[in-house]
Amino acid sequence: NYYAILMAGGVGSRFWPVSTQNFPKQFHDMLGTGETLIQKTFKRLAKLIPEENIFILTNERYNDLVYEQLPGITKRQVVLEPAMRNTAPCILYASLKIQKENENAVMIVAPSDHWIEDEGAFSKNVKTAFDFCQSNNALMTLGITPTFPNTGYGYIEYNKSTNDEIKSVDQFREKPDYETAKSFLEQGNFLWNAGIFMWRVKTVVNAFKSNQPVLFELFNNGYSVYNTEFEDDFIKENYAKAENISVDYAIMEKSKNVYVIPATFDWNDLGTWGSLYDKLKKDDNDNAVVNSKVLLEQSSGNMIRTKKDKVVVVDGLNDYIIVDKDEVLLIFPKAKEQDIKKVLQNVKANFGEN
Ligand code: GDD
Ligand code: MG
Repeated sequence: NYYAILMAGGVGSRFWPVSTQNFPKQFHDMLGTGETLIQKTFKRLAKLIPEENIFILTNERYNDLVYEQLPGITKRQVVLEPAMRNTAPCILYASLKIQKENENAVMIVAPSDHWIEDEGAFSKNVKTAFDFCQSNNALMTLGITPTFPNTGYGYIEYNKSTNDEIKSVDQFREKPDYETAKSFLEQGNFLWNAGIFMWRVKTVVNAFKSNQPVLFELFNNGYSVYNTEFEDDFIKENYAKAENISVDYAIMEKSKNVYVIPATFDWNDLGTWGSLYDKLKKDDNDNAVVNSKVLLEQSSGNMIRTKKDKVVVVDGLNDYIIVDKDEVLLIFPKAKEQDIKKVLQNVKANFGEN
């Protein structure tokens, strides 16, 4: 009865120039290990879930990338979205499909682009969640101990009254402002939402039905054609009509039956060059190098990535991102990495798509 939804439709624009709209980060070997992020994620899930029950949801423009990188999968497992509508439509659509196939399904929803190394601990946490939601109407999350008031994450306030492995949630708050995030950290009983969810298919479908009736109606109207030859036409005609909203705002913030398991594994959402740098092996001067052959003098704290075996010589440079890809070369201070999104807009305006 176990199923998975792998969300692979994001663009990862802060990883430009490696991640681009036509070839986003989940399809790249960001860590330099020989496997792309989506391949790693698929393998991690396949330890818990039959491969044929892992569904991939992505934009239609990544069709070829998905089949190339996950050679065993079939058309039944792939949903191609004609428009980017964020995670709520993606999750509801896939859940309805799975429900039609198996109404007792218990499922995990996972991003395709995160770093999780301790797969044993990950599996153990997910199994605990699966067991719990078999017999409870629960929307389960995995919580990460926060280290600073990051405003890009969801925050989970858990109930302190018990010491149980599974904690009930008093409040789910998506992307609070800085002051709020700071006060959450001070209060102590808050965790970051890892963006990984587990539930029974019935539970999540009901959550959408009560909290997002318009979206629910839109997709539920197609229920009879799901998993048939007419489904492609239904998606083409209706998917783009969905509201652009993330699952966090759409149901998690609004539901009372949310639970959290504090994760026992190390987690990183690989959102920026700096977060990737944190996870890579460093040389004696804290430089992280992917693919390149380097000669470094008086240089520390740099994140360097080029195509395989390109020779890079750097002298007297600290804390920079150096990324070389085909026709683009980026040399940018690590401290300003959040601005890469804006820079990319500028580049597009001046030089077109890269
Ligand atoms: N199929 C599909 N379609 N996937 C999508 C879409 C879409 O339209 N939009 C985003 N995704 C995928 C992304 O590729 C990513 O793997 C995942 O869904 C989450 O989307 P993000 O855009 O990265 O979300 P976020 O980082 O702003 O916030 C979420 O993740 C945080 C942890 O990384 C939230 O769940 C936060 O609460 C959480 O803390
Ligand atoms: Mg993210």
